[in-house]
Amino acid sequence: MLHLVFPNITHKFAYLEMLSEWKASGEFETWHVSPWALFRGEDFEEFLMLAHNDLTQNHRWVPATLFFLMDWEKILGWIQVRHSIDAPNLREYGGHIGYGIRPNERQKWYATEMLRLALVEAREIWLDRVMLGCFDDNIWSYKTIEKNGGIFERYTEYEWKKSRVYWINI
Ligand SMILES: CC(C)(COP(=O)(O)OP(=O)(O)OC[C@H]1O[C@@H](n2cnc3c(N)ncnc32)[C@H](O)[C@@H]1OP(=O)(O)O)[C@@H](O)C(=O)NCCC(=O)NCCS
Repeated sequence: MLHLVFPNITHKFAYLEMLSEWKASGEFETWHVSPWALFRGEDFEEFLMLAHNDLTQNHRWVPATLFFLMDWEKILGWIQVRHSIDAPNLREYGGHIGYGIRPNERQKWYATEMLRLALVEAREIWLDRVMLGCFDDNIWSYKTIEKNGGIFERYTEYEWKKSRVYWINI
C-alpha cells in the first residue's frame, strides 16, 4: 500500500538504491529536479540529520518536512512540505510543496497519489491552502497539481523559464 513516511535509519538501503537510479538517469545533475533537500549530505546519516534539522529550522528557506512515498520497502519518490512560504523565492515561485518520482516509476499516477497524501499532512500542520510552482513545460507536474484541485493563479519566471503558480484549497 502506498504511504508517506518521514525518513529514518531503516530506509538507508532503499534510499541508496533510489539514488543510484536517479544518478544513472543523468537527471540528478539538473538541480531543479534534484533539490538539495533530498540529495544532500556526505552520506545517508548526514542526510537524515539534515532532514531532521529542517523540521525546526532551515538556514536557507523555512521549516519543512520531507516524506518518502513508499510501496512496501521501496521508495518511489519524495515530497517536501514547507511549513510556510515566508521567503521571497517561495512566495514568488517555489511555494509550499516540491516533489519528484524516481525515473523508472513515472506515469503510474504515483505523483498524483503522493500529492494527495501530502495535502493530508499539510492539513496536520494547519495549512489550509498551499501554493505550488512548476515550469510551464512540465506538463506532468501541472497535471499532477490540477488533478489535486490546483487552481492556476499566474505565470511567473524562474531561472529564466516561464513558470506557473497554482493554489490548492485543502
Ligand atoms: C512531475 C513528476 C513528479 C510526475 O510524476 P508521475 O508519477 O509520472 O506523474 P503521474 O503518473 O501522477 O501523472 C500525472 C499526469 O501526467 C501525465 N504524465 C505523466 N508522465 C507523462 C509523460 N511522460 N507523458 C505524458 N503524460 C504524462 C499522466 O498521464 C497524468 O495525467 P493524466 O492522469 O491526465 O493521464 C515526475 O515526472 C518527476 O518526478 N519529474 C522530475 C521532477 C519534477 O519535475 N518535479 C516537479 C517539479 S515542479
